[in-house]
Amino acid sequence: MISTTVIEQLKQVETPLYYYDLPLLRATVSAAQTAADAFGYHIHYAVKANNNPRILHEISTLGLGADCVSGLEIELAIAQGFQAKSIVFAGVGKTEKEIRLALRQGILAFNVESLEELRVIAILAKEMKIRASVALRINPNIDANTHHYITTGLDENKFGIMMHELEDCLALINSSERALTLVGLHFHIGSQITDWNVFKQLCLKVNAWNNWFIERGIEVPILNVGGGVGINYQDPDGESIVNFSDFFGLFHRFLEPKPGQHIHFELGRSLVANCGSLISRVLYVKRGVKKNFAILDAGMTELMRPVLYQAYHHIQCLTPNRPTARENYEVVGPICESSDCFGKQVELPLLSRGDLIAIRSAGAYGEVMASRYNLRQPLQFYFQE
Ligand code: LLP
Repeated sequence: MISTTVIEQLKQVETPLYYYDLPLLRATVSAAQTAADAFGYHIHYAVKANNNPRILHEISTLGLGADCVSGLEIELAIAQGFQAKSIVFAGVGKTEKEIRLALRQGILAFNVESLEELRVIAILAKEMKIRASVALRINPNIDANTHHYITTGLDENKFGIMMHELEDCLALINSSERALTLVGLHFHIGSQITDWNVFKQLCLKVNAWNNWFIERGIEVPILNVGGGVGINYQDPDGESIVNFSDFFGLFHRFLEPKPGQHIHFELGRSLVANCGSLISRVLYVKRGVKKNFAILDAGMTELMRPVLYQAYHHIQCLTPNRPTARENYEVVGPICESSDCFGKQVELPLLSRGDLIAIRSAGAYGEVMASRYNLRQPLQFYFQE
């Protein structure tokens, strides 16, 4: 909920801007942390969802680890207070420079995505005389029932080690003269998963893979099951925080770790999405032939999720005391692309030039995916303390 006091302040500032509700962020992260603690689970925040230094600092202060996908994310996470020892490093295309950086920093684990990557990590670790802790990312071939661009756990996806390479990976680890230590198994099947039966399927696959390794005499200390918890984009005020107790409870019910094995999660969206809104102004209302357009000063350059994934974001008019009459608008941005649209047939109060508009649940994969196409202004921010 964006309070009337905040709306009064937003009226004074230039738009478009990213509004972040820090009390809601803290409440969300604390809820996740408390629910995870109940089962002794560990959470790494997926930095890719939002790497705003202010957000990172808040999350590190609350004691989470980090999940990074580039050398720069590792450096930024450490600069914002995350412990190197709490960082996991994923990604199908880690460069030598990034691997060296992660080795120097002494991260918790490389989430390794291919046999060739494992070979390179072994070579660099030997060269630097630093032991590399590795987790093997296994592709469990589960359909996450989400948008196909954010499904990652199917055989056809580029992520994870292919089954036929696993034995070779183990042989490489054994022959690495201790340059590589196998510390975990890693899974991540996709994002914005709202069908929680999918997570049950994941648990069953993790159990099976854990047993596969145990049969080969290997018991890893870490089972990292990734992230992917979906949020309620339709009703950001009604359900502003995911029911983390139910989520972790499901894993507690279906995962069968061996004594001493730790369960790790990599949560991104569910921690940060609802604390962010993209705030914009109506520049023009255009009465079209077939429909009316509300042309905003924010576009796909500030939030590309609707264009890229046909994603729904709740759009709301913040200007107080609007007439009760409502009308349908195609809510579009100023960018020279017909795809630059935040929503079709969006019912809003009759709009006028200058009205303030909030595009909600934009805290995850919003700011981070912004671009300067059309030479847009650098992003502006407003932090609700
Ligand atoms: N772990 C790994 C290995 C990942 O690839 C991701 C997200 C996460 C954790 C965090 O997932 P989350 O809890 O946020 O679902 N740009 C897209 C989402 C891409 C997700 C990429 N991977 C979107 O805007 O929907």
